[in-house]
Amino acid sequence: MEENRPSWSSRLTFILAAVGSAVGLGNIWRFPYIMGQNGGAVFLVVYLLLILTICFVPLFAELAMGKITKKECIGAFESVNPKFKIFGFLNPLTGILVASFYFIVGGWIIDYIFLSLTNIKIEDYGSYFVTLIQDSVSACVFTLVFLLICIIFAARGIKKGIEFANNVLMPLFAVILLGLIVFSLNLPNAHEGLIYMFKPDFSKVNAHMFLAALGQALFTLSIGMGALLTYGSYIREDKSILKSTYTIIFSDTLFALMAGIMIFPAIFSFGLEPNSGAGLVFITIPQIFAQIPYGNIVSAAFFVLLFAAAVTSGISIIEVPIASMVERLKLTRTKACAAVFSIIALISIPATLSFGQLENFKLCGKTVFDFLDFTTSSILMPLNALFLCLIAGWFLKIKGEHFIQNKFFAFLFDIGLKYVVPIILVALLYVGLK
Ligand code: TRP
Repeated sequence: MEENRPSWSSRLTFILAAVGSAVGLGNIWRFPYIMGQNGGAVFLVVYLLLILTICFVPLFAELAMGKITKKECIGAFESVNPKFKIFGFLNPLTGILVASFYFIVGGWIIDYIFLSLTNIKIEDYGSYFVTLIQDSVSACVFTLVFLLICIIFAARGIKKGIEFANNVLMPLFAVILLGLIVFSLNLPNAHEGLIYMFKPDFSKVNAHMFLAALGQALFTLSIGMGALLTYGSYIREDKSILKSTYTIIFSDTLFALMAGIMIFPAIFSFGLEPNSGAGLVFITIPQIFAQIPYGNIVSAAFFVLLFAAAVTSGISIIEVPIASMVERLKLTRTKACAAVFSIIALISIPATLSFGQLENFKLCGKTVFDFLDFTTSSILMPLNALFLCLIAGWFLKIKGEHFIQNKFFAFLFDIGLKYVVPIILVALLYVGLK
């Protein structure tokens, strides 16, 4: 069986795929809106703190566990102890739930690409957003198209498409983001956006915000769902995963900060509300394009590149259940892809409708879309990260010194994995959910 497992052609391919998984809608779409709902700069401080300290540990441990066990999630946990199978199983389950709302946003992006090519005035895109999410048929169709595109990439194997998207499209995306940042910073009142983003008002700190920051940090780094474990299991040679961990954290944070610096000055300049929720980016960015000569071309380019970023992340999400089905149920890759497509389609359709017909259908007081987002980011991912740290630290006995040259750093990692991070995760889950 092991010989038939796919593996990365080089370390670079692996790093690019892992960065591609991390950088996605989480950075451009989710980060600004969650930050806007949680008080701006204070949120950023907590978020950066979590990213730079706590998140390192489960990220590294996920990659290491994949690399050591060379199995998909369920098998990886099972190989530590058959009783842990259930913890492994939570990962593909979380993956399916994440995919079921992530791909809806992917669908909105496809719609915006088409929109940029029509002759609707860019100024009107913002109000179009509401029409778009409420129009069930087109929203469902675009969600399914996005899902299908990711499934096709996944079915064709993990290397080729991802390599192109990451080598060529990601740098292009960074360039276009930089251009938009320069533009946004020159808008009238841009400084208010920067103040909102960088001048923390510590009176706004609350427990819920910590959980939101943790959820966002895990989400954006693709931690707590087995995506990195699965990618790590395809690493063949005995190369350092430490560098990959830094690269993932660095690039992901860079993209998130760029998105923020692009969005917030524009929000304040156009008098929009930073806490307006999931539509924030879709309503704000077109306003920037409307001011730029050939704005619709820039807009099309922007959404195409955002689409590419979303696809490389989307592929990593579905790779988790696909790998589990292939290895556990002995399905062919194509059949596993078809099965995953059907399951995600089934769940994402009610979630898509939660902006239209099912607007009033609530689970625990939330629409299906918000419910999926909240239960995955704020509950399942922290829980999965917790189980992973405990099992990797206490049972698989991943030791820092196997991977990390610096003795002191290795020691810190061990303490973090076994004690500090699990305690913090439990504490955040406790206060946030109380
Ligand atoms: N990190 C991706 C983003 O920021 C989303 C993502 C991909 C993800 N794979 C994941 C989130 C695994 C959680 C777990 O867009």
